Formats: sequence, structure tokens, C-alpha cells
Amino acid sequence: MSKQTVFITGGAGFIGLHVVPLLLDKGYRVRIFDNMFRGDRDQVAKLAATGDVELVDQDVRYGGAVHAAMKGCDLVVHLAAVSINKSQADPYESIDINMVGNHNVFAAAADHGVKRLVFASSASVYGDPKKLPMHEDDRLDPLTPYCISKRAGEDLLAFYQRSKGLNWIALRFFNVYGPGQKPTAYYTSVINHFVKRLKTGQPPIIDGRGEQSMDFIHVHDIARSVVAALEAEQGNVPVNIGTGIDTSVATLAEILIKAVGVDVEPQFNPREVLVSRRAADITRAREVLGWEPTIAVEDGMTDLIKVEVA
Ligand SMILES: NC(=O)c1ccc[n+]([C@@H]2O[C@H](COP(=O)([O-])OP(=O)(O)OC[C@H]3O[C@@H](n4cnc5c(N)ncnc54)[C@H](O)[C@@H]3O)[C@@H](O)[C@H]2O)c1
Repeated sequence: MSKQTVFITGGAGFIGLHVVPLLLDKGYRVRIFDNMFRGDRDQVAKLAATGDVELVDQDVRYGGAVHAAMKGCDLVVHLAAVSINKSQADPYESIDINMVGNHNVFAAAADHGVKRLVFASSASVYGDPKKLPMHEDDRLDPLTPYCISKRAGEDLLAFYQRSKGLNWIALRFFNVYGPGQKPTAYYTSVINHFVKRLKTGQPPIIDGRGEQSMDFIHVHDIARSVVAALEAEQGNVPVNIGTGIDTSVATLAEILIKAVGVDVEPQFNPREVLVSRRAADITRAREVLGWEPTIAVEDGMTDLIKVEVA
């Protein structure tokens, strides 16, 4: 049987570069569609050397380009987006790429009759959660153009499902971290900030009591969830992808102190902070995708620091 081809937008970015090798291991061919705004050309060149990966250097804002490039592909992964922190500064760009871009990819996938489209949604569709853990059926309250585009993306997928039979899964990624992440990444800026200080022997400084928390999920587990979503029997649902564990900023500081191996205590900066907390209910990920997180946050953070030091 000839190999199936996966079309992956944003495939040259942080998460994409962890997904592509898993797809190759599974015997797929891969067509990366990326404007290389944040893509890594060297990594793509290494993957292309396998003979099973090609790069289309194009922009999701151009519907015709997306449609033409997707021809002949069996499955689609849509990761291309601009990040949450840019979306408040430049809503126009965010809407162009994240809203129009989503639509171009979904419409093309529906037209080409692909077997499954996997969309990178985000935990930010929930806004500030009222309770933990956060469940897929909880009320959505997206607060910025980026988050609004993720929620609208899920709604558009349901539209193309009803009108053209498109089969989809939207993965609501929680706080992704791991090797290859750019230091400017929104969720992980706190990791970088702490590690920078620890490497010069200074204690991390925590605002308030460090009670605000995130559900840190390793990029390798994220990549596994994307492959599982392409292959899952059941479709047409959003699925949370996290560990289910909320790690407070104070706990993160302790994990990083241990990982870097310095003898300091975190310093607390007494001030009022808005405490937001996050943890995913991952029951549906287990049931629909047969997926479990495999990397504990302590191990993932420790490995990350080893890689960065080496
Ligand atoms: N990293 C996280 O913590 C996180 C959390 C939730 C959701 N997500 C979502 O996962 C997806 C991948 O995130 P990432 O962390 O790998 O981001 P990233 O910025 O590393 O990768 C995005 C890729 O998309 C490409 N791209 C950007 N604009 C484009 C355009 N107009 N046309 C074509 N390609 C374009 C970039 O060049 C880059 O290679 C995004 O949709 C993001 O919103 C990420």
C-alpha cells in the first residue's frame, strides 16, 4: 500500500518539529506548509533528507495556496498560528492568520475530502476557569483575539462537519514546554526567567505567594496526542491535552532549583496577584484517543535544563 500523506501547517515550529518525526516513524509522508516566520529551516532540511518530508514555504492567509498545496493529502494537522501575546498587540494580524488562516485550511480540507483534520486549539478557550479540573463541556470564555480565534476555529470545524462531512478533532493544549521552545513563548517565560537567575546563583523571585498554577505538558506528549488524534476512531470533538496536575509557581521554582542544582531558597515579593489556576480533566483524552501523558513535570523540567546546559 502506498504511504499516506499528512499535510501539516506550522510544521516547522516548536510543536510541529516534534510531531513530524513521530509521523515518519509511523510510515507517513509529510508535507509541511509554513511561511517560516518562526520555522526552523535547519531542522526542516534534516527532516527533508529522509525523502519523506517536503516543505511548502507559503502562508495560510492565502486560501488558493493552501488549497493547491493540500492536493493529494490524506490527513491534515493545523498548527500554524501567531501567539497569544502578539494577539493583543496586533489584533489585525492575529485575526488574519488565526481566523482567516483557520478558515482557509478547514475549507480546503473539506473540499479535498481528507479523512481527519486535527486542529491545535488551546486551554485559553476557557478563559479564567471557575473550577478545576477543566472539562471540555465547561463554559467557554475566550478573552483575547487569539483565544477567540481558537474557539471560533472549533465552531467552524463543526460547520464544515455539518455542511461537508469534514471529520475533525480539536486538541485543547494546556501549557506546553520542552526542547526547541523559543524563549519568548508566553506560558514558559516564567520557566526561562527562573532558570536564568538560578544559573547565576540567584534565587527565583515569586510575586505573591506563588499560588498561581499551570498544567505543564511536555511537547513529546503533545506530539503523541496529535498522532493519536489523527488515528482515533471517534472524531468531531474537542479534547483537553494536559497532565491533569496543576503546578503552582512556587512548586515550579522548587523543581527548577533542584534541577539546576543550586543551594538557594525562592524569594517572595509580597504583592497582590490575581491567582489563576489551570488543570485539565483528561478523561476524554484517555477515552477518545487512548492517550496518557508519560512525562512527569519534574522529569521533563530536569531534562530540559540538562539539554540547555549541554
Ligand atoms: N506552545 C504552547 O504552549 C501552545 C499552547 C496551546 C496551543 N498552542 C497552539 O499550537 C500550535 C503550534 O504552536 P507552537 O508553540 O509550535 O508555535 P510556533 O510559533 O513555534 O509554531 C508555529 C508555526 O507556524 C508558522 N506560521 C506562523 N504564521 C504562519 C502563516 N501565516 N502561514 C503559515 N505558517 C505560519 C510559524 O512559522 C511556525 O513555524 C499553535 O496553533 C498554537 O496556538 C500552543
